[in-house]
Amino acid sequence: MAPCGEKSEGAISSIVIIIAMQTEAMPLVNKFELKEDLESPFPKGVPWVRYHGTYKDLHINIIWPGKDLALGVDNVGTVSSSLVTYAAIQALKPDLIINAGTAGGLKAKGASVGDVYLASEVAFHDRRIPIPVSFFFFFFFRTYFSCFYVFDLYGVGLRQACSTPNLLKELNLKTGKLSTGDSLDMTPQDESSIIANDATVKDMEGAAVAYVADLLKVPAIFVKAVTDIIDGDKPTSEEFLQNLIAVTKALGEAVTRVIDFISEKRHSEL
Ligand code: ADE
Repeated sequence: MAPCGEKSEGAISSIVIIIAMQTEAMPLVNKFELKEDLESPFPKGVPWVRYHGTYKDLHINIIWPGKDLALGVDNVGTVSSSLVTYAAIQALKPDLIINAGTAGGLKAKGASVGDVYLASEVAFHDRRIPIPVSFFFFFFFRTYFSCFYVFDLYGVGLRQACSTPNLLKELNLKTGKLSTGDSLDMTPQDESSIIANDATVKDMEGAAVAYVADLLKVPAIFVKAVTDIIDGDKPTSEEFLQNLIAVTKALGEAVTRVIDFISEKRHSEL
């Protein structure tokens, strides 16, 4: 991830907030009094929605991947989030990406429902490619067998969020590692990988957004609010739906505080 200090010398002026669910996005659209862009910069026919406007000195864009054209549900997960992140960066050239959303939390790592986390790093837990580096291959056949290098690490896709020590301190947010996969539930293999990733929170978009932001050298931060406890007794989908509205409110408040903090700051001051 591009360190926050490297991107530009001036104050941050343009922000893209990637949010997967309409329920999560609307409180912020209302808070910042954003308007839907009816002449969207995205390709004709895609369901992706851009809300935009000016709040304080910042040009704010909320990008919501919209609803599945056939099934009418929010386009959650890594495929849509990476596509909209790419398209939004290309069209809007933001100074900073914020990926905001709900997440599962591990009580073993101190998470509780309603906590809001600023992720320190992000990785995938469902891209298992068990072909590790072989020193034998590495030293003797690297030209011919470059495909054997580190597929396992490529699958994990670990990336640092840009470091924001002042933001963390000032807002008194929790911090922890975020693990991303394309399922709301968790197989035993996912669970092992989440533990191996040393994650405190689990979502369905973060590492995909991080991949694209890293590729295009845009600093990114990840604000995640806990709706359910993945190592608890309650069924995940029930707990998620039960807490979604209340936790979305906490998420909106946290993102507003983050935006208020960012206003008039340079990357290096975050
Ligand atoms: N978003 C909210 N809860 C989640 C969970 N348990 N897994 C992935 N994404 C989530």
